Amino acid sequence: LDGSLRDRRQRPWRDLRISLTDRCNFRCSYCMPRSRFGPGHRFLPQSQLLNFEEIVQVAREALQLGVRTLRLTGGEPLLRRDLATLIRELAELRTLDGEAPDLALTTNGSLLADQAQGLRDAGLRRLTVSLDALDDAVFRRMNEVGFPVAEVLRGLEAAQQAGFKSIKVNMVVRRGVNDQEALPLAEHFRGSGMVLRFIEFMDAGCQNGWKRDEVLESAVLRERIHARWPLQALAPSKGGETAERWRYGDGQGEIGFISAVSKAFCGDCTRARLTADGRLFTCLFGAQGQDLRPLLRGPQASEQALRERLAAIWAARADAYSEQRERLRELQTERADMHVLGG
Ligand code: GTP
Ligand code: 5AD
Ligand code: SF4
Ligand code: SF4
Repeated sequence: LDGSLRDRRQRPWRDLRISLTDRCNFRCSYCMPRSRFGPGHRFLPQSQLLNFEEIVQVAREALQLGVRTLRLTGGEPLLRRDLATLIRELAELRTLDGEAPDLALTTNGSLLADQAQGLRDAGLRRLTVSLDALDDAVFRRMNEVGFPVAEVLRGLEAAQQAGFKSIKVNMVVRRGVNDQEALPLAEHFRGSGMVLRFIEFMDAGCQNGWKRDEVLESAVLRERIHARWPLQALAPSKGGETAERWRYGDGQGEIGFISAVSKAFCGDCTRARLTADGRLFTCLFGAQGQDLRPLLRGPQASEQALRERLAAIWAARADAYSEQRERLRELQTERADMHVLGG
């Protein structure tokens, strides 16, 4: 075992995104629009969720196959009870190089003010908070539950106090819906030490009413920002990164652009996703995933069998949906929901 595992396109496996729950207290228009996810929506029953021991098992074997980054997602991961305990257990695992895993989490920030310090103390290193507008009315409209922006900003302050190694802020941009918020957000986070990243609205899942003309290309947005605050390109910080990094010419920090539609980054995609009910997806645009639960519970469960299965799944992988979107959108009409896959 030396991390030499490659998929059919010669891509190594470096990241495991772990969804802890499909539940969320937001109904973001681009992910779980209220019109489709009303009060009658059924989330996974508790009994179907992987417990912490099972999650740690999968993470441990993934690290043995070359994974370095573990990112916790949801739904909203801060809704998962006793999250700090899981983080402590994951932080004790080791990569093939004998290092602690790069432990990160993506949250909507609504519950962060109370939890930030506890997460940091448990061993979480990096934090990413979604924030789609600075204007309260626009923010409430985007999350479709009327959640106030001030509370997320309070969460970000708590996170800064808590001393994370890195804090990023993700803005999903929908042309004509919240793109006017991009410059105010850039202004707000310039010089804060936090890295704002703009994400092109994606056709993830089948419920968000995606239309190509609601995508504001990163290149266009970058020009808008560059006109106000000149930008300079930065080199990637690691292989297989989602974001292209830029810095403000006046030294006020870094921003990023995730051009998942206009400039696909499948070529060096190193990510797999584990759902809260134990299915492994090798692409954000997959339909079903591979059920790992039989290998985690019951008579057939064994470390060896799990590791072999994970390696086999990765080795068979050929996904590159974003590169082939035009063609695959027609063919591949079933796509798992974003709140199930964790983005
Ligand atoms: P870093 O390691 O900090 O760069 O995090 P990340 O960008 O990998 O993760 P994050 O949860 O912040 O995701 C940012 C955006 O990129 C979200 O909209 C994700 O859905 C999207 N994203 C992450 N990974 C992939 C991917 O493999 N493919 C596509 N198409 N989008 C992705
Ligand atoms: N397009 C782009 N980004 C999305 N996210 C959720 N749904 C979409 C979509 N349709 C983002 C969230 C979060 C990350 C995990 O994925 O805002 O920042
Ligand atoms: Fe919840 Fe995140 Fe989906 Fe918004 S994007 S509804 S916060 S899971
Ligand atoms: Fe990776 Fe699939 Fe995203 Fe391409 S579309 S970058 S293969 S997850």
